[in-house]
Amino acid sequence: MVEETPWQQALRYENRPNPYPFYEELRKTPVARQPDGSYVVSTYRELVQLLHDPRVSSDQRKLPVPVENPFVGTIITTDPPEHDVDRRRMMRHFGPPECPHMIAGFEPQIRRIFTGLFDGMQGKTRIDLVDEFAFPGPVTVICEVLGVPLEDIPSFHAWIETALDGLDLGPEATTEEQQRRAAAVPAAVTQLRQHLGDLLDQYRERPGPGVLSGMANDDGPEGPLSQEAAIGNAMLMLFAGHETTVNLIAHSVLSLLRHPDQLETLRRRPGLIVPGIEELLRFESSVQFWPTRSALEDIEIAGTTIPAGAPIFVAYGAANRDPKRFENPDKLDLERPNNEHVGYSQGIHYCFGAPLARLEVQIGVSEFIRRAENPRLVEDPPPYRRNQIFRGPKHLWLDIDGVRD
Ligand code: HEM
Repeated sequence: MVEETPWQQALRYENRPNPYPFYEELRKTPVARQPDGSYVVSTYRELVQLLHDPRVSSDQRKLPVPVENPFVGTIITTDPPEHDVDRRRMMRHFGPPECPHMIAGFEPQIRRIFTGLFDGMQGKTRIDLVDEFAFPGPVTVICEVLGVPLEDIPSFHAWIETALDGLDLGPEATTEEQQRRAAAVPAAVTQLRQHLGDLLDQYRERPGPGVLSGMANDDGPEGPLSQEAAIGNAMLMLFAGHETTVNLIAHSVLSLLRHPDQLETLRRRPGLIVPGIEELLRFESSVQFWPTRSALEDIEIAGTTIPAGAPIFVAYGAANRDPKRFENPDKLDLERPNNEHVGYSQGIHYCFGAPLARLEVQIGVSEFIRRAENPRLVEDPPPYRRNQIFRGPKHLWLDIDGVRD
């Protein structure tokens, strides 16, 4: 049997709870060629360098054998100038300079949503932090921000789960079970696209609150997004606003319970939550890597030449634990100085929703700390979700003595 590379091993489902020993091995070759001809970049310096390199594309339609993925034509899989124009067309409805109060204006609503979830747990002594808090909080918030009716949550959640479970980029992709999961993806994505297309049409006829209506009725200087791009980017925001934040809240609670001294520090000094969630994201990155980049030309880096046309995986989860950049990287230190992690990427694809994600996670984790009385992990490690990119616990069972008012 051919021995698997550290990257292939890191992608195995059994290693989802702890990919870090494989990342350590992987970083010994900062730019590592894989048997399929792709390159994985796992060290901080090289990763940041490539994120700023215009010879690196995010558009898989430019590969020698073009790849179609559900996000084709959205800002996350396009290059300038298309990327920049569409990102501005979206940002006009999401943040400064046109909507400077958009995210901050949601703060009271976000607090209400997270407080309401804890109110609903009164009387319980065992909770699943994912199903009862980390999932419903962010999903409600992103629906309200976008203007997606809350009653649509069960259907689009099921479509998104199907799409996520169907994507496997590791050695288990060829198993029969995984092939079955992959076969279900196109129908789920078509239904989600159809649903969002209908919603955009409705908003065009009757404008309402939220980003989708803003995008559907855009009258900005660069004209509106095409219907195709509006649907794709609506799906991207729903997806991104759904999966990543859930994982960060769940992982933050897990990491704090594994480091009681840090939890105690945060209890004593609640203001530490702002830098604290940056460290929690560095420590357990919600987006472990991104798989759509490729080299437009031969690129020389760290003694390796990535040939034109080769796919490049940027391994954020590995770079965030690079000891050459972060002192003692496997230590959780909420007061870590100079903590410029890559959990939200860098460069032109820097996370569009980071201001919203930060606000939600600060509020969500603070609410947990304030209200859960004597929380204990029931299972460590908890069960993990299958997806390798959006890595996080599927459930996080906790015993608590009660819920504080
Ligand atoms: C903790 C939460 C989040 C994390 C860790 C996160 C992480 C990331 C990362 C790493 C990327 C760059 C991917 C690449 O390499 O190209 C990204 C892009 C993006 N994120 Fe987030 N994200 C989070 C929350 C959100 C939310 C709430 C939204 C909602 C609007 C969002 C929307 C986007 C979009 C639209 C992009 C594409 C930006 C572009 O290509 O220009 N994200 N995010």
